[in-house]
Amino acid sequence: MSHDVGTSDQVEEAAVIDAISVIRTKRDGGELSDAQIDWVIDRYAHEHGNVADEQMSALLMAILIRGMSRREIARWTHAMVDSGRRMDFSGLRRGGRPLVTVDKHSTGGVGDKITLPLAPLVASYGVAVPQLSGRGLGHTGGTLDKLESVAGWRADIGPDEMVEQLERVGAVICAAGRDLAPADRKLYALRDVTGTVESIPLLASSIMSKKIAEGTGALILDVKFGSGAFLKTEDLSRELAETMVELGESAGVITRALLTDMNTPLGRTAGNALEVAESVEVLAGGGPDDVVELTLALAREMLDAAGLGHVDPADNLCNGKAMDTWRAMVSAQGGDPEAPLPVAAHTDTVVAEESGVIVGLDAWDVGIAAWRLGAGRAVPGAAVQAEAGVRIHAKPGDRVRRGDPLFTLHTQTAERFATARAALRTAITLGDAPGIRPPLIVDRVTVGA
Ligand code: URA
Repeated sequence: MSHDVGTSDQVEEAAVIDAISVIRTKRDGGELSDAQIDWVIDRYAHEHGNVADEQMSALLMAILIRGMSRREIARWTHAMVDSGRRMDFSGLRRGGRPLVTVDKHSTGGVGDKITLPLAPLVASYGVAVPQLSGRGLGHTGGTLDKLESVAGWRADIGPDEMVEQLERVGAVICAAGRDLAPADRKLYALRDVTGTVESIPLLASSIMSKKIAEGTGALILDVKFGSGAFLKTEDLSRELAETMVELGESAGVITRALLTDMNTPLGRTAGNALEVAESVEVLAGGGPDDVVELTLALAREMLDAAGLGHVDPADNLCNGKAMDTWRAMVSAQGGDPEAPLPVAAHTDTVVAEESGVIVGLDAWDVGIAAWRLGAGRAVPGAAVQAEAGVRIHAKPGDRVRRGDPLFTLHTQTAERFATARAALRTAITLGDAPGIRPPLIVDRVTVGA
């Protein structure tokens, strides 16, 4: 969407805007005008020198505290889209027929490897899945970090290669180019060090600016809540989901969201190579129940949005077609899908100190342990260990006896075990009886619902 040039009043207003007046407007609880938003994003993204990091930090904190109206969020998002290049997949063809594009985004969680089986699964039905992904920061892993544990695999591919791969294979998982919503790159780095990540307007605009700029036809969002997610409560994640669905739909992207529980890690692994191995199990028709459940639920939404609501995605997990697409997708980006995954030099097992039934397994604690073992990074650009992570032996509902293994810790650097063990000290809650397991998928958010 391109912005209107503006009335003569708006043009006049833009001529007198400065960073301090924008900060004061939001600090005092006012609404930013379209001209103020366009000005501040453009000046910050393109380093004209009019908006310094400390001024943008103050504005971000004012937004976190004061919030934004839906109009402000929409304008802020589109100003971020307009800060860079838009991709266009409308010309994709296979066998002379146009290809529909559908993407998925997860707000991030512990053990969330769903993109890995999901992208090839959906592509195996003839839908194009352009998945521009990121690297992890903090306790949640990044999809690119996970895939980089496959020998030879490259995250950086150019737009022409991406189009060729989408037409031939159907799925691409790669790094977003630097010119896609560049305002978001700068803002995200600043939010990360100023305690302003958890603002719903800033989360929604950050995620949706990249997805709108990417040019996908449809988008399915996995919006998480709970201890391992950015947002801790279901209500907040619902507000984020509704905001993003509205932003997507108003930009012409079919957008739907699932609200999912991230109090417990997904699957039985957290860490890069460990999660790739678990994803391959799912593609082979096995894998943990929760990973399979969420993969299939998101696949159904993606296929439905692409006009294929009648197919059952479980079929291609069982008959090997999703696995064939995975192999083709990995090979197309230089990876060897048959190569053994890297294995940690050191492992250490945490055992149960008491007997009982597991009634809680805290995603945050497991994420921190995996991060401390070397699976994640503390600063952007730092290296991660492909081999590091946590294997989970028992999940909520399982009965354990004193001495049974709960976790196996994996790392290349054995001195990390002590701090990882410390993170896991409170991870497990034991009870006498299993109790009722909360649903993994708690709701579906669509436009106007
Ligand atoms: N992922 C994003 O792309 N942006 C955020 O703000 C948080 C997670």
